[in-house]
Amino acid sequence: MIRDSHFRAKQPFRARGVAELSARIGDVDAEIVRRLDAGTTPVRVLELGCGYGSVLLEWRQRHGERIALTGLNREEQDGDDAIVRRNGIERGLVDASDTAAMPALAFGDAADGLPFADASFDLVVSQVAWLYFGRKAHVLREIARVLDRDGVARIDADEIHPRLPPEYARLFEIWHRGRLVPLGDYLARHGGAIRRADQGEYLAFGKLEGLGDDLLPVAEIDLATIDPDWDGIKCIYRLRG
Ligand SMILES: C[S@@+](CC[C@H](N)C(=O)[O-])C[C@H]1O[C@@H](n2cnc3c(N)ncnc32)[C@H](O)[C@@H]1O
Repeated sequence: MIRDSHFRAKQPFRARGVAELSARIGDVDAEIVRRLDAGTTPVRVLELGCGYGSVLLEWRQRHGERIALTGLNREEQDGDDAIVRRNGIERGLVDASDTAAMPALAFGDAADGLPFADASFDLVVSQVAWLYFGRKAHVLREIARVLDRDGVARIDADEIHPRLPPEYARLFEIWHRGRLVPLGDYLARHGGAIRRADQGEYLAFGKLEGLGDDLLPVAEIDLATIDPDWDGIKCIYRLRG
């Protein structure tokens, strides 16, 4: 059971909702509605780094049984069933007598792979989590694997983080023959993109074959080991060939 003071202290950083998500990755609820209107039920959604589950609970309240909701957190203390329910009750998204299915939660390090079957989601979303992932190219590959054929991923990820010093501001760095390959160019080669939202940038891609397969890991730096106030894991790659 999470201590009350801990729950409260972390809430601002772990309980962002759909409004904050949309500011970071665009109007993703419209994507859900488009699929529902086209007859897909349930729309299967995965949120990477769902924290206390506000986004999933808002969508549960809005779309009911027409949406199947799954969240991944690194550790149970980041948001388990009890924490998500408590957050939902406090926000008026769940009431004490509510017996409808709650979001399914899974736990683990995304860098080790996503604990889900191939082609099991229509939509993969994430806010304020990508920066913490190690093995970012592997995570890209894993997202593409769990997306269904016409699935879509939108991952909040600034290419250059404004609050980090220039040497470390680029958390996904790709080199080819001595030149930097901007992440947007790399994604575009594979049919993906970096797009702008009201608040920063996000990665947008579908079930792309070969995404990440052409990247060789060079080094990884947990920025907190340099300065405890710096957040993120910088992953450096070079292009094969
Ligand atoms: C700062 S919280 C953000 C939570 C929520 N998305 C929000 O914006 O309020 C970061 C989330 O990412 C998750 N996370 C961080 N590193 C992770 C990793 N390596 N694998 C899986 N989840 C991770 C944590 O469990 C936590 O839920």
